[in-house]
Amino acid sequence: MAPAFNLDAYLARSKAIDLSAIAWSEVPHHPVPAEAIRTLRYMQDIESHTIIYLRSLLATRAIDDPEVAAFLACWLYEETFHGIGLARFLEAAGHPQPPRTVPRGQESLSQRLEAGLIARVSRAWPDFCAVHMTWGAINELTTLTGYRRLVAVANHPVLTDLLERIMLDESRHFFFYYRQAEIRLARRSVAWIARLLVDRFWAPVGTGVQPRSERDFMAAYLFSGDDGRAAARRVDETIRRLPGFAAVRLLEHWIDRSSGARAGRRGRVHGYRHA
Ligand SMILES: [Fe+2]
Ligand SMILES: [Fe+2]
Repeated sequence: MAPAFNLDAYLARSKAIDLSAIAWSEVPHHPVPAEAIRTLRYMQDIESHTIIYLRSLLATRAIDDPEVAAFLACWLYEETFHGIGLARFLEAAGHPQPPRTVPRGQESLSQRLEAGLIARVSRAWPDFCAVHMTWGAINELTTLTGYRRLVAVANHPVLTDLLERIMLDESRHFFFYYRQAEIRLARRSVAWIARLLVDRFWAPVGTGVQPRSERDFMAAYLFSGDDGRAAARRVDETIRRLPGFAAVRLLEHWIDRSSGARAGRRGRVHGYRHA
């Protein structure tokens, strides 16, 4: 069992990452791989999307619990500054983030239907918060792991400094969600429904917000190779320790499927060319 999360200490300490402490002028003096720029664009967009995600959450029972509501206020503030920090890095590296092609919040019909379904499930099921907390734990841990992998593969000193500051926030976010999930999933009936919903609906952070090609590119850049695979496996192993989530198939399984699908698409293209 994870140790207790000190919410009062978190709320008292919550603050934006200190952007004035980053050596922005040093950014162009070190090479940034093109793959890292493309990955950072994805991550920046997702961090900036947090407020839209919150809008969907507010239609659920997420804010019925005063502790969760207090946490979410600080969480949103911190996440917003992650987006600002990543945008600043991209600009300093000579790759400012272009305007979005699809205005933020204009989700596709299927996404709106899915959000509507989640809202209805939430209204009908008083323990919905257990799913929200589990979902949050998976996404925060995936994000944290993604940043850790980016530090390793991009090997840029200023990016490392920025991401280490962001990762401190992400690890606190993860800890809050995980501890809450652990408590709320202790009831077997709750864990059973939560597991059903995660099995049915979970997809990596950013699915539906960014094009699939960008999501798959990022996954291949960060999670291929032995170290990447091991990092993805550790995410899944951690979530499997939650009540009712033994043997759940998340990041590693998704990477297997998406790399298999990519290989399949390449095969089809190859076949057409020689048909
Ligand atoms: Fe973040
Ligand atoms: Fe976070």
